[in-house]
Amino acid sequence: TLTVDAAERGPDIADSMYGVFYEDINRAADGGLYAELVQNRSFEYDKADNDSYTPMTAWTSSGATAAQVADDAARLNERNRRYLRVSLAGGSKEFRLTNAGYNSGLAVRKGERYDFSVWARTDRASGTPLTVSLAGAKSGGALADPLRITVRGDRWTKYTGTLTADATRNDGRLTVGAGGPGTLRLDEVSLFPRKTFKNRPNGMRPDLARKIADLDPGFLRFPGGCLVNTGSHQGYEAPDFDRRRSYQWKDTIGPVEQRATNANFWGYNQSYGLGYYEYFQFAEDVGAMPLPVVPALVTGCGQNKATDDPALLERHVQDTLDLIEFANGPTSSEWGAKRAKMGHPKPFGLTHLEVGNEENLPDEFHARFKEFRKAIEAEHPDITVISNSGPDDSGPVFERHWDLNRQSDVAMVDEHYYNSPAWFLENNDRYDDYDRKGPKVFLGEYASRDNRFRNALAEAAFMTGLERNADVVRLASYAPLLANEDYVQWKPDMIWFNNHTSWGSANYETQKLFMNNVGDRVVPSTASGTPSANTPISGGIGLSTWATSAAFDDVSVTSADGETLLKDDFSHGDSRWTPASQRGSWKIEDGAYVQSDTAAEDTMVTAGDPKWHDYDVRAKATKKAG
Ligand code: AHR
Repeated sequence: TLTVDAAERGPDIADSMYGVFYEDINRAADGGLYAELVQNRSFEYDKADNDSYTPMTAWTSSGATAAQVADDAARLNERNRRYLRVSLAGGSKEFRLTNAGYNSGLAVRKGERYDFSVWARTDRASGTPLTVSLAGAKSGGALADPLRITVRGDRWTKYTGTLTADATRNDGRLTVGAGGPGTLRLDEVSLFPRKTFKNRPNGMRPDLARKIADLDPGFLRFPGGCLVNTGSHQGYEAPDFDRRRSYQWKDTIGPVEQRATNANFWGYNQSYGLGYYEYFQFAEDVGAMPLPVVPALVTGCGQNKATDDPALLERHVQDTLDLIEFANGPTSSEWGAKRAKMGHPKPFGLTHLEVGNEENLPDEFHARFKEFRKAIEAEHPDITVISNSGPDDSGPVFERHWDLNRQSDVAMVDEHYYNSPAWFLENNDRYDDYDRKGPKVFLGEYASRDNRFRNALAEAAFMTGLERNADVVRLASYAPLLANEDYVQWKPDMIWFNNHTSWGSANYETQKLFMNNVGDRVVPSTASGTPSANTPISGGIGLSTWATSAAFDDVSVTSADGETLLKDDFSHGDSRWTPASQRGSWKIEDGAYVQSDTAAEDTMVTAGDPKWHDYDVRAKATKKAG
């Protein structure tokens, strides 16, 4: 029974209450939201988390006497240092340089236009002829009429042309061919779809951007997460605070050929083609409040270091002031002028900014946070500077962060947690007792650990608790937002994609429902006779059984309504089940199935393809005689 007290006034709910947390994780930008089709277009890929990345990643070449990535005085510019130096063989031998794109290749649609560009120079007096072609990897057949360009002169020049696809394929390969003798230099090879979200140049992939826009987000937190924790790098033992490997907003603006490439925290290279200008523009395009996060010079995300270099701190504080000027400053200001030059003379209207992310050292973090806040408040008293509370929902680090936040009268604190669906059901009242006079909460990252219906439902239930406490919880965002299915560092995620399509999870639908229906204020209500959150679900499967499946002669998994999802009698040598070593174990936690190893999900998807559906799964195993 639900009792609603319409006469009583609950807290107001801000229009911006529910937003999105965009992080460049799971290759959210390059090969995802950023519409560029060429991978590693500027030959800048560097060793990231392992040795698999090289300056020639995604490229192959043939037919030259030598084709080498060089970093010398002939470079295009200081931020885009490497280029491809080709000693052409001459005669009838054509040099061919091919890019494989992302996932299965470059995805093109019949009838659509694709803008090609390359920076090039040649020492051959009569010029070097280039042929630019697009072909399918499997068929080898041409997907567009080729482009012919002649490179002239030994100074870097940008050459452009347009290819129109005459077929729809997801396995395209872009090839630049060159003839004649001499030394040819190439850099920043790009194939960019003409069609982007809102037709923005250097813009976003329409299907992905549309899915985000359809959420009607109140704010856009960007560009990370752990990505922005300067000095920490997944897989590196010691943090370094070196500019090269840390996300620095100033490296992400201006002409794309002058933007750096970053071997980032998540172990891959990001081109910065999507940079701060594009994020601000995107926030405006989807009607969301922009909410950038800057590094606090204390590592989080699994590492515990802080820099004591005052010059470095000063530079980062100044970079943050410059960021505010870039977003809001008049066109007569240094950074406002840069924004105007990029196409947006009007200010972007920045009102909130976050310093740091998930720092494990509360005292060190707060000392630095206060430096940032002092400098920002002195020049921009209207900006809300958001602080942090570490990586957990509770515990000593969390408590210490909160004590310090309260002591220094912080305006808003970012909380992060990733827990089981049961936790979300049990913690609906989490904010009921928060101090109404203390700092407000920005729930910047949360998710229950899967993309199944029960996760989406648990999150929806939890969000009613956020909304009931809208006077304390002012902003909330599910995390992470995007994942390319072939390059996953983190799951679950809200929206999934590959090189040609995208799909929202069940959790996406929950977010969409709440974001598109933000109330004006809470109407207090009480419920009685509700079932316990812990009502056990009957049945269950244990992968520990599967792990020893050789001992069984029949295993089947059946949905609640009797449909057989998976079945294996192990009568064939090549079992559909993946080897035991790849399986995870499942346990029943508070009545909900919890996967303790994400590989287990891959097993399910491969074996029976119950992808993105929720099943009440039962397993039946018949033990072999003996
Ligand atoms: O959302 C994924 C990661 O989770 C974020 O980068 C980090 O802040 C958190 O640990």
